[in-house]
Amino acid sequence: MGPAEVRRVGVVGCGLMGSGIVEVVARAGAAVTFTEGSEELVTAGRDRIERSIARAVERGKLEDAAAEAALGRIEGAADLGALAGADLVIEAATERLDAKLAIFRALGDIARPEVVLASNTSSIPIVELAIASGRPELVVGMHFFNPPPVMALLELTPAITTSADTLAFVRAYGTDVLGKTCVQARDEAGFIVNRLLIPYLFDAIRLYERGLATREDIDTAVQLGLAHPMGPLRLADLVGLDTTLAIGEILQAEFGEARYAPPPLLRRMVAAGALGRKAGRGFYRYD
Ligand SMILES: NC(=O)c1ccc[n+]([C@@H]2O[C@H](COP(=O)([O-])OP(=O)(O)OC[C@H]3O[C@@H](n4cnc5c(N)ncnc54)[C@H](O)[C@@H]3O)[C@@H](O)[C@H]2O)c1
Repeated sequence: MGPAEVRRVGVVGCGLMGSGIVEVVARAGAAVTFTEGSEELVTAGRDRIERSIARAVERGKLEDAAAEAALGRIEGAADLGALAGADLVIEAATERLDAKLAIFRALGDIARPEVVLASNTSSIPIVELAIASGRPELVVGMHFFNPPPVMALLELTPAITTSADTLAFVRAYGTDVLGKTCVQARDEAGFIVNRLLIPYLFDAIRLYERGLATREDIDTAVQLGLAHPMGPLRLADLVGLDTTLAIGEILQAEFGEARYAPPPLLRRMVAAGALGRKAGRGFYRYD
């Protein structure tokens, strides 16, 4: 199947990332069926999509008619079985190995045998999901960035079992249909972006921890000296300090290198509930 023949996409999980992926796919013209764990979560997922599409209209990024048409192409279900008619499935459920293995095992039975199953996972080996699905050559990583409707990048991460045809298909779909810029990385923890981002954030936290400079001066130095849109401590707050810590732990487990070792201050801030912007406090306060 060519990317232009993808009429219905299945998305598993409609949280932060899944809802954004549903929106991107629907705005690109395909019908989307998303699944969640319960009817309440389906409603919450749909609300999240509606709010995001309304914001795009407010900002002049989307016409009213296009917004309405996109919403009309989206349906939610509390049962993975609803994905039986999908031409492509993108999984964006909670980042837990056992949960994802169960989903890929089920998708292997539910989706038509020729359908590609992609995962948005940030850290779980794609090869494990590929083997669980029973169609290892048709499973690949499609790693979107937050928020998916805004961020242009898509990291494609083939497992050692992924076929060249599967990779070519998701590359063409990501580029030609979704309008993303695709990069490709091996199926190793962190891919390209997190592999570079996490040691950088950890270095900034270590400088702050050692009292080299104030948090404001560290952020201002990077923002103005390196022309970044945001300094590293503010960025860590935005990503979430718990998420930043979790990714660091995964990178350290995979590579065993000191550059991936989480700074003690980060661990203590997470233990104290200072998780960044979403918690109202991290390196900064968000009242
Ligand atoms: N948050 C980010 O910035 C980011 C960026 C790139 C990739 N990711 C990846 O995207 C995935 C989702 O992350 P998120 O931040 O959206 O998490 P989230 O917690 O916001 O959303 C996950 C959703 O999956 C649902 N879910 C769990 N099990 C399910 C199942 N069996 N069937 C259907 N739905 C199920 C949950 O109810 C929840 O709504 C993870 O693999 C994560 O690593 C996250």
